[in-house]
Amino acid sequence: MAKHTIVTMPGDGIGNIVLSETLRVLDAAGFDAEYVHADIGWEFWRSEGNPLPERTIKLLEKHRIGLFGAITSKPPAEALEELDPSLRDKGYVYFSPIVGLRQHFNLDVSIRPTPSLLGNPLNFIRRGADGGIEEPKVKAVIFRQNTEGLYGGVEWTNPPAQVRAALDTHKKMANFKDTPNEDLAISTRIFTRKAVKRIVRRSFEFADKFGLKSVTVCEKPNVIRETSGMMLHEARLVQQEFPHIQLWNTNIDAQMMWLTKNPEDYDVIVSGNMFGDIVSDGFAGLIGGLGFAASANIGDDCAIFEPTHGSAPKYADYEIPIVNPIAMVLSACMMLDHIGEFDLATRIRTAVEKVVADGQVRTYDMLKLRGTQEVIHQGAASTVQMTDAIIAAL
Ligand code: NAI
Ligand code: MG
Repeated sequence: MAKHTIVTMPGDGIGNIVLSETLRVLDAAGFDAEYVHADIGWEFWRSEGNPLPERTIKLLEKHRIGLFGAITSKPPAEALEELDPSLRDKGYVYFSPIVGLRQHFNLDVSIRPTPSLLGNPLNFIRRGADGGIEEPKVKAVIFRQNTEGLYGGVEWTNPPAQVRAALDTHKKMANFKDTPNEDLAISTRIFTRKAVKRIVRRSFEFADKFGLKSVTVCEKPNVIRETSGMMLHEARLVQQEFPHIQLWNTNIDAQMMWLTKNPEDYDVIVSGNMFGDIVSDGFAGLIGGLGFAASANIGDDCAIFEPTHGSAPKYADYEIPIVNPIAMVLSACMMLDHIGEFDLATRIRTAVEKVVADGQVRTYDMLKLRGTQEVIHQGAASTVQMTDAIIAAL
């Protein structure tokens, strides 16, 4: 019997490609695992009216560790058009299955590391004070609250009367008193103390474990006083237990400006759902973008690891796949760390670092080419060649 059982959810488009290539890397590294395939994504929306079938939930409930590729999402009207005709008018409503998984399993801690790899031609460079070129070593790890806040889904256009009445008890609603209900769109930003405490604590524990000097709360507490304010307040309390770790406090807008000024200064960054989404993409842009950005979704009973890119449908059917598998491979390394296979994770990461540093094998994104089937003839490595190079470096 294998030591680990992993639920694999390739999903749609290039999710299938990068996941199967990643399994080749895991096999080559000697990871002792059995993989259980689980259905998820567009195909199951179309044929069953559910992109996240119950059988997939059951498999995750049983095995608790998942590797996820990517899914395709489309707006509600378009989704309905593609539903199998026999299922139409039955009340099915499309939802994003990865958001569904995060909520179902309360995967409330999202971790998004953004380490720059030496030799990556996509790394951010800037001009130094002496006019020379600097390539800062970016190492930020973003902890994003994954289930609440602006992405919590509590929102209305034309809010019900009792919602309006409750809002009208707030004195700032005076500014909107002449706006009719049907002209009001409201998206709530709900933070719970429990979830805030958890994400803040996890970020400090991480900094502590890896000997990092600072945790930065990246929110906007001077303006969004209640929610951002709660996160900063809880961070101050948790910091007292970790006196050797500094607590920094940045505003999301200023943080985006500082991305290009001093990104190397940041260790761990902790944010609510939306600002975490923004700041993690911002940092990912400094280290090569979607082909390099890995992530983990962690709950108490389940954890799912995925690249942050989507299904890139335009590349899904290329005869020779061209997309970069590194984001998925590094996501699998996060999984290995999570289940205690630290040596394997380090070996695979080292192999990826070596391939990037060697610079002989580069996918189209690393050559700054526009993604077409032609890139193979322009010197870009295919997805399979990149995977082969990583395996060879192992
Ligand atoms: P996307 O991430 O799929 O692709 C955007 C562009 O980034 C691609 O066209 C390609 O140029 C580049 N790219 C993405 N992955 C790459 C890789 N591994 N190597 C090299 N280049 C890569 O985002 P897009 O086009 O906005 O969305 C496509 C579909 O994916 C949509 O249906 C969207 O809803 C879904 N999506 C799913 C996500 C998930 O499963 N977690 C996340 C983001 C989008
Ligand atoms: Mg995002």
